[in-house]
Amino acid sequence: MKTPPSRTLFLSGMDVKLYPDPESASIAAAMLIEQVIVDARAKRGKAVLGLATGSTPRRVYAHLVARHRAGELSFRDVSTYNLDEYYPIAANDPLSYHTYMYDNLFKFIDLAPERAHLLDGTISEGLAGAHAGLFERSIEADGGLDAQLLGIGRNGHIGFNEPSDLTPEAAIKLGTRLVELHPTTRSDAAAEFGSVERVIPRALTLGIATILSARSIIMLATGPHKAEAVAGALLGPATAQLPASLLSYAAARTTWLIDHAAARGLE
Ligand code: F6R
Repeated sequence: MKTPPSRTLFLSGMDVKLYPDPESASIAAAMLIEQVIVDARAKRGKAVLGLATGSTPRRVYAHLVARHRAGELSFRDVSTYNLDEYYPIAANDPLSYHTYMYDNLFKFIDLAPERAHLLDGTISEGLAGAHAGLFERSIEADGGLDAQLLGIGRNGHIGFNEPSDLTPEAAIKLGTRLVELHPTTRSDAAAEFGSVERVIPRALTLGIATILSARSIIMLATGPHKAEAVAGALLGPATAQLPASLLSYAAARTTWLIDHAAARGLE
């Protein structure tokens, strides 16, 4: 089942592992997450995971569910914090990330509901800042993230930290907050929402600062549509125009798992 990476690179100070296809890259991500859980449990008696949504991690969650069903992996002492949520949106909306997490992972595993944390898309706008601050403080009170799973947007976003004109020094300090989605992000979500006009244009997102503070960061990128962003992030300078490139600020703690199609631009 497990395929070793077909190649290992070291780019911008980060470990980059190449896999033949999305399936083997996703299995590698699931195995890394399982290892993080085992190690954190041994060290601290619990594990704290930062989770992502979108199409990329679906296979990762399917593998974690399979491990759980096989009796090999429990989430009893795990807490999870999700990267983002559309705003505004009800938790039970079929398009919410609450629904996504429940459908792809939570309903199949033994994670206690009160340990599964997502940003609240129903919070009133005036309280969004306070809610974001509380979310960050909950992560800190839980001892910080043992691992943050990430996908990459076609525009290089991580979470919903979209490209900006900030200096890298300012961008890496960005906290959890309410943001406007970038046109590329909206166009990529159009199929799910039915049309680009229907895409909810704002979201709550974990900040780059919190992402970078995770004790390990696992970036999973698959498919030819990610090749340009992957190459820019790994071969170019650290810039807020391509937020994933800012992962180099946590280089020693970051692993990229990429399939051959997404690695095309690295040749
Ligand atoms: C999802 C998230 C986004 C996605 C990215 C890639 O929680 O924060 O940054 O990881 O947009 O999405 P997919 O995997 O659908 O290509």
